[in-house]
Amino acid sequence: MSTRDEPAGRSEMSGAFTPLRNRHYLEGPPRQVPGFASLHRMVEMLLAERVPAKGKILVHGAGGGLELRALAEAQPGWLFDGVDPSPDMLALAEDTVGPYGARVQLHHGLVDKAPVGPFDAATSLLTFHFIPRDERRETLRQLHRRLKPGAPLALVHISFPQAEPERSQWIARHVAYGAPRGADPAHLEAAREAIGTRLTILSSEEDAQMLREAGFDGVSLFFAGLSFKGWIAYAA
Ligand SMILES: C[S@@+](CC[C@H](N)C(=O)[O-])C[C@H]1O[C@@H](n2cnc3c(N)ncnc32)[C@H](O)[C@@H]1O
Repeated sequence: MSTRDEPAGRSEMSGAFTPLRNRHYLEGPPRQVPGFASLHRMVEMLLAERVPAKGKILVHGAGGGLELRALAEAQPGWLFDGVDPSPDMLALAEDTVGPYGARVQLHHGLVDKAPVGPFDAATSLLTFHFIPRDERRETLRQLHRRLKPGAPLALVHISFPQAEPERSQWIARHVAYGAPRGADPAHLEAAREAIGTRLTILSSEEDAQMLREAGFDGVSLFFAGLSFKGWIAYAA
C-alpha cells in the first residue's frame, strides 16, 4: 500500500482528527453507530450487486480504514483507492488494513485528489456531515464524475429533521446513544452543543435531493440507525 499525491501536512479538516483522538478512533464508530458491523455488510452486499469480482472501489473519507478492511476482507478481488484530507487518519488506515494493504492505494486530500477512475463503485461513510453545505453538491458531482455509468455510491452520515423541536431531540438522541452510561451531564451538554454547531446536518429529504441534483438516480434509503442514514444511488 502507498500513500501518495500530497506531502504529509495538516489539512483543513485534520483539526477534528488529531493524533490523540486517532488512537481511540477505531473504538468510536462501533459504539456510536447503531448496527455498525451490519452496515459494512449491507454496503458490501449492495455494491456487489453491480461490482465485478475484480472491481475498483473509490473510498471517500477513508481515514481510519475500517470500511477498507471490511470490504477488502469480504471481497478478495476488489482493489481500493481511498482519499482523505487527514494525514493522521490516513496513517491509521494504513495500520488498520494490515494484510490487505497490497490492494489499497491511499491519497491525501479532498475528493479532487482521488484518481479519475472510472470506478465500479464508491463509498462515503460517516464523512459528509464534516463537509459544509456549499461543498456537498460539488463533492457529490466529483464522486459521480469518477464512476462508470450505473455504478453505485453508498453514502452514510448523520441526517435528521432540521425543524425544531425535532432537531434538538435528534441531537440529544445522537449524543445519548454514543455516550458511556453515567456520563457527566456537563459533557453531554457540551457534546450536544458541538454536534449542533460544528457539523453540517441536513434533513434526509435534502440529502436525497442533493444526490439527484448531482446526477445520481435510483436513490434509496437502505439504512436508518437513529441519527445515521444511508443511501444507495447510481451514477446516471
Ligand atoms: C468519522 S471519520 C470516518 C472514517 C471512515 N469512513 C469510517 O467510516 O470509519 C470521518 C473522516 O472524514 C474525513 N474528512 C473530513 N472532511 C472530509 C472531506 N471534505 N472529504 C473527505 N474526507 C473528509 C476525516 O479526515 C475523517 O477521516
